[in-house]
Amino acid sequence: MTTVVDPLVAAPSPVRDAHDRGASRDLSIALLGLGQVGSAFARLVATAPPELGRTVKITGALVSNTSREAPAGGVPLTADPRALLDGRPDVVVEVLGGLEPARTLVLEALARGIPVVTANKSLLAAHGDELLEAAWRARVPLRYEASVVAGVPFLGTFDRRPLAAAVTELAGIVNGTSHFILSKMETGCEYSDALADAQRLGYAERDPFNDIAGIDAAEKLTILIRQFSHSRVTTAEIPIEGIDHLLPADLAQARELGGAIKPVVHADLGQSGALSAFVAPAFVSARHPLASLSGVANGVWLKSAHASLFYSGPGAGPAVTATTLLDDVAEALTRNHEARPWCESVAATVSAPAEGRWLVRLTAAHGLPSASDTADLLSSHDIWTSRITETTSQPGSDCRWLVALPCAKHRLARALESLERAAGCEVTCLPVLEDPDA
Ligand code: HSE
Repeated sequence: MTTVVDPLVAAPSPVRDAHDRGASRDLSIALLGLGQVGSAFARLVATAPPELGRTVKITGALVSNTSREAPAGGVPLTADPRALLDGRPDVVVEVLGGLEPARTLVLEALARGIPVVTANKSLLAAHGDELLEAAWRARVPLRYEASVVAGVPFLGTFDRRPLAAAVTELAGIVNGTSHFILSKMETGCEYSDALADAQRLGYAERDPFNDIAGIDAAEKLTILIRQFSHSRVTTAEIPIEGIDHLLPADLAQARELGGAIKPVVHADLGQSGALSAFVAPAFVSARHPLASLSGVANGVWLKSAHASLFYSGPGAGPAVTATTLLDDVAEALTRNHEARPWCESVAATVSAPAEGRWLVRLTAAHGLPSASDTADLLSSHDIWTSRITETTSQPGSDCRWLVALPCAKHRLARALESLERAAGCEVTCLPVLEDPDA
């Protein structure tokens, strides 16, 4: 059941509160974490602080090694988070990543009445409800715009516009690293070189497995599902497929078919109580808005009863993430968001889409069945194809691609299993993301 709580009293303004404690005092930020994003944030505050009528300063940064070099602005380093909170900062910026100690420290800051800004998608995905409720109870802002598509501020807009946020379907590219890698592979670059580039540019997570395997994208999708349907799903429930089994030839084939393979998140939010969602590399035709993106770019397409909207831009990188964090700081210090209703999310089950079209690759070391034998076997399972390509030779194997016409996934799975058994080939199956106007 959805619980809507509408506070009748206005929340205290942190700026007014700070004013009461001494109008001439600087606005102080406690920074939790000083990795690539935290360091970029410290540089930004030192070089381009927001104009809030008072000096904005980072009064301390939480690090594990205090003997490391101090960041821009001569920010004092500490390994003691409680000392930072005891200093009563006007806002806490959390960029530690991971669940602990981030969760405990965010909850503690909120309990002390300190607004929190975070870029931590793992934290929001796993504990978003708990943190949002804690923020609402403490009547202090919790801002997390930088946690999803960091360089495109849109979550906050929808927070303030519940009618516009009544979304029935969403599709997006929300992981810059995997998009960057697939875009590079389209031009013939080796997977490992593209990954190394993404890490050097600061797009990839410390452990790039989360990017490659789709976990980072699934955490962001968990946040988007909560944002747009107030449904509570766990990241582990979302069907996830990574990009590491793709070949450059798959990307070339997608181009031949008039589209591209993109690292997609998708959710159908239209059904009550049950959602269909997935994270997977998917075929998108050139007509889909997501096909217009390349490199590290992110995009989110949203469909509501009245309109389709498409937001795109940079989704990762220390500089853009720091910019969004600092805008969130300014909003947390100047806007009274917590006077709006807080809406508890509803537990929902999530499953993979049951029907659709699929791009299938058949791979075998020696000889694949002919196109007509393949079509015959599939049709015996009531699976029909719009296209079956010629066999092409890849290093160490032969490949053939086919597009399965709309069918039930379980029927396709059975047909492909018999193909694997009968023909001794391996199959790789990618969903086709239908065009918005299809
Ligand atoms: N590793 C993430 C990405 C960083 O590649 O999109 C931003 O969340």
